[in-house]
Amino acid sequence: MRKPTRRQLLKTGIIASIIGTAATLGILTQIKKNNYMSTRQTRTTQATIKLPSPRLDGPISLEQAILRRRSRREYKNKPIKLSDVSQLLWAAQGITEPKVWVGLRSAPSAGGLYPLELYVAVRKDGVKELEPGIYHYKPHEHELELIISGDFSEQLMAACVDQEWVRDAAINIIFTAVAERTKRRYGERGWQYILQESGHAAQNIYLQAETLGLGCVVIGAFYESEIEKILDLPKGEIPIYVMPVGALT
Ligand SMILES: Cc1cc2nc3c(=O)[nH]c(=O)nc-3n(C[C@H](O)[C@H](O)[C@H](O)COP(=O)(O)O)c2cc1C
Repeated sequence: MRKPTRRQLLKTGIIASIIGTAATLGILTQIKKNNYMSTRQTRTTQATIKLPSPRLDGPISLEQAILRRRSRREYKNKPIKLSDVSQLLWAAQGITEPKVWVGLRSAPSAGGLYPLELYVAVRKDGVKELEPGIYHYKPHEHELELIISGDFSEQLMAACVDQEWVRDAAINIIFTAVAERTKRRYGERGWQYILQESGHAAQNIYLQAETLGLGCVVIGAFYESEIEKILDLPKGEIPIYVMPVGALT
């Protein structure tokens, strides 16, 4: 076969790049649709709280954070800071590459479909700057929206088979998944991806907590239906993890 000329190669390159751009735009439109595919509009936002910008360096090295990471279940009865909440949420699902249209995050996601949603249940006097309630994290805006007022720490503990650290924590970060975002592309295998992704995000919280002098633990033992009720979850959004976080010192 004859070698293609430079002109032919250029022509093929241009066509390929047009097809590539069109495909990328198609994928991005799909991603946008998926990302906003949520029944959240059934909820009323009672207040919006702008979170402080996350800091981009810390007092201990990554290696030290890995070395020190432990599941911690005993917390001091004192509030944590709003800047701590900001840092933990950013570590879990914060936007770290806004230049890519969909907004790439601190934790990887199969196909960039981002099925995870994060909620923060703040108990009375859990965070100085926040009234007790259930807040939903919006990664793009780095904001919290208050969706339900009140201290739900006792109910959360009961939902987590009476694990006391859930009640004692200043906050509980609750992971849920809008499974359809991932399953629409990957079918039943999407479930594996969702659980794998929640592991990535939870580990980031563990490591970030170590740098902040906070303790946390992942809770997998809970009654799904109870968590759904407390959070008033829309249909199709499934609880994955509960993470109590509290002060250690
Ligand atoms: C999927 C999963 C579910 C877990 N569920 C609970 C739980 O319900 N309650 C709890 O106190 N710890 C829970 N843990 C934490 C483990 O008990 C803990 O990771 C283990 O004892 C090892 O300790 P380390 O995390 O300090 O290394 C869970 C851990 C994983 C990975």
